[in-house]
Amino acid sequence: RPAIGVAVLGMGNVGAEVVRILEENADDLRARVGAPLEIRGVAVRDLSKPRKIDSALLTTDAAALVARDDVDIVVELVGGIDPARELIRTALTGGKSVVSANKALLADYTGELAGAAADAKVDLYFEAAVAGAIPVIRPLMQSLAGDKVERVAGIVNGTTNFILSAMDETGAGYDETLAEAGRLGYAEADPTADVGGYDAAAKAAILASIAFHTRVTAADVYREGITEVTADDLAAAKKFDCTVKLLAICERVVGDGGERVSARVYPALVPLSHPLASVNGAFNAVVVEAENAGRLMFYGQGAGGAPTASAVMGDLVMAARNKVHGGRGPLESTYAELPVASIDDV
Ligand code: HSE
Repeated sequence: RPAIGVAVLGMGNVGAEVVRILEENADDLRARVGAPLEIRGVAVRDLSKPRKIDSALLTTDAAALVARDDVDIVVELVGGIDPARELIRTALTGGKSVVSANKALLADYTGELAGAAADAKVDLYFEAAVAGAIPVIRPLMQSLAGDKVERVAGIVNGTTNFILSAMDETGAGYDETLAEAGRLGYAEADPTADVGGYDAAAKAAILASIAFHTRVTAADVYREGITEVTADDLAAAKKFDCTVKLLAICERVVGDGGERVSARVYPALVPLSHPLASVNGAFNAVVVEAENAGRLMFYGQGAGGAPTASAVMGDLVMAARNKVHGGRGPLESTYAELPVASIDDV
């Protein structure tokens, strides 16, 4: 089968891991997809930065890369609204499938972009936009498509969970714990999006939109960050057998106007007996409650290069299979990658 051409936009932590996995696992990926996945180019801002990739693949012209005829799938990892929005629109209208980890963009433009994907009969996948490696988008969109989701509640920001967990453990204040998180590489140089709750609000908008089959944007999400949480708050929570977590809560509510979707992000008292109370450090977890499925919990690494790249790669394999098989391809390949062990081998 002819190769599937892949354009990667952005080569930060996640992009570098995507490129590494594409190169290291090329044989298995080819077998799983049914055709080789070939990197046509990687768009970066700075060509002079040393990178682990053949420099002939690097370009600063993302638009030209997206427009190439031999690109079938665009992996967008640049983040932000512009120029990512236009690059993705161009890709979709040009018949290319798109995999994106861009939570800020998807929070506000999923409707527009999903519409462009549907019109062009191509895929738009974004598992990596919420909770890194943790599969939560696909379960909500596919596995639970026949159920009625009542509530999605979770810890979807690793930086703030790291800070709150450390404050709980050490009794230290917010400012010194934030500084420590920066030193350890958990908090960004500008941590506003994380500690202000904006990152979690974008993720809540995406989760609410797909869980409740509606359009919720970041501006619709009530938001409080963790900047006002003090050591005394954590100590008081402990006295009530609780801890404090920055929760994203999306749920159906019934008021005078009928049923609505509420999405909100704020530091909440969580009883120690609740499963979210024991999600510590930079980990994420999402609890989904559905009418027929009951309560489901998804837990794991919500940030970081390799974990987030894992989610990107899953989307890329699915999009590539659909390209190879036409429309929606099989969910599993027929290739026998490994022999089956007998109990004596274990
Ligand atoms: N800054 C985010 C976090 C990265 O701390 O969770 C993953 O979206």
